[in-house]
Amino acid sequence: MGISDQGGTRNVMTENNQNVQDSGGSDRDPAMLHTPVLLERCVELLAPALQNPGSIYVDATLGMGGHSEAVLDRCPNARLVGFDRDSEALGLAGRRLARFGDRVTLVHAVYDEFASSLDNLGIGTVDAVLFDLGVSSLQLDEASRGFSYIQDAPLDMRMDATKGVTAAEIVASYGEDELRELFYRYGDEKLAPRYASWIVRERAQAPIETTGQLVDVLQRATPAAKRDAGHPAKRVFQALRIEVNAELGALERALPQALDRVVVGGRVVVEAYQSLEDRFVKRLFEAKTTSTAPSGLPVELPEHKPEFSRLVRGAERAGAAEGEINPRALPVRLRAVERVRSPRA
Ligand SMILES: C[S@@+](CC[C@H](N)C(=O)[O-])C[C@H]1O[C@@H](n2cnc3c(N)ncnc32)[C@H](O)[C@@H]1O
Repeated sequence: MGISDQGGTRNVMTENNQNVQDSGGSDRDPAMLHTPVLLERCVELLAPALQNPGSIYVDATLGMGGHSEAVLDRCPNARLVGFDRDSEALGLAGRRLARFGDRVTLVHAVYDEFASSLDNLGIGTVDAVLFDLGVSSLQLDEASRGFSYIQDAPLDMRMDATKGVTAAEIVASYGEDELRELFYRYGDEKLAPRYASWIVRERAQAPIETTGQLVDVLQRATPAAKRDAGHPAKRVFQALRIEVNAELGALERALPQALDRVVVGGRVVVEAYQSLEDRFVKRLFEAKTTSTAPSGLPVELPEHKPEFSRLVRGAERAGAAEGEINPRALPVRLRAVERVRSPRA
């Protein structure tokens, strides 16, 4: 599989033989559209697993390909399988990674299709996996995608703009209780009941179809005393984005698949930017790095030994210097594990 140029339009051939077009125009430089978070640290953690000829690196969230480019440069024996559900991202990253030729395979898929997509490519095990969760700056900054509460646009928020329910449809159809729960659960929004009731009242007067209309409702719903506590739409927009893209469910299905596919000595690195996602990663990694020996057993049997060991203590954060250059790095929590025992051993 490779990357082909057809009549001036750059197409990436995915494993489904779909053409993923760089619809954004070839003048845009992917490196300028998103700054990879904790780039050096990720490469340092992934590279030891990618030194053997033919070793396979899966970037489950390819984005603009910043992490992947650095890994391919640092690990000349490695091949990349890069997933993204956003075909625009795949097109741009494909252009960036074209110089690596057939070392690169791009897959237009949600990452919970991790195992089946690898099967389709004839790949059994892999050597290193990165999940850099959430949205890219490309998605956030492109007004028309509807992720941003700063710019007015249709209230969309789908990472894969070709399918699924939009944020406007959720805002129009969820009951007040459902909206309140959504804003609490995925946004940790203290004003969730107030915002939910205002939305239900306002949408009865006129549909809320744009980011600007939703921001207007939220601003009017925010009590004067709370107006200084950050942008009122920030947490509601985060909650809607997570719901629209079913982000948590996809991660809960994908990460166990990735851990299952990684060889002994193989590594899995996750960068999470939201507490529910990080909590899931933390708990799964804790379970996988803990002995399953029943308490009181005098000797730990081989099958009770943990399958993974931690590569970092707790969660690593971005330093102040990186946060200053790239504020989107500030919420990151990086966790990483290495397989030390085969599931069958
Ligand atoms: C933070 S960006 C990754 C940036 C990338 N590491 C880089 O250096 O450019 C996350 C990317 O993951 C993609 N993504 C998010 N959830 C996904 C999912 N469930 N399946 C596939 N791709 C997903 C988004 O479309 C976005 O392009």
